[in-house]
Amino acid sequence: PKLIVVTRDGEEREIDGEAGLSVMEVIRDAGVDELLALCGGCCSCATCHVHVDPAFADTLPAIGPDEDDLLDSTGDRDSTSRLSCQLPFGEAQDGMRVRIAAED
Ligand code: FES
Repeated sequence: PKLIVVTRDGEEREIDGEAGLSVMEVIRDAGVDELLALCGGCCSCATCHVHVDPAFADTLPAIGPDEDDLLDSTGDRDSTSRLSCQLPFGEAQDGMRVRIAAED
């Protein structure tokens, strides 16, 4: 499946991602190093914050309590905010567009 990533300077990249990974892993494996993902995906850092195309919100699991707390600690949270390490990537997310959130 394809994932479209918009970097902080507005550059758009289309990534051929591997189904079964998390969205964070797909972005990281493509070499987009501005997504720091410091905790490696264990939902404790918030540096994998992205804004997700609302059209795909229904394909994603609900925000968990830890994710919610961490998102609250960021300065760029809005209704499209998610931690990308908590998002599955597969055929249901084919063509999904995510924008890397501002740095805190
Ligand atoms: Fe740390 Fe997602 S990688 S919360």
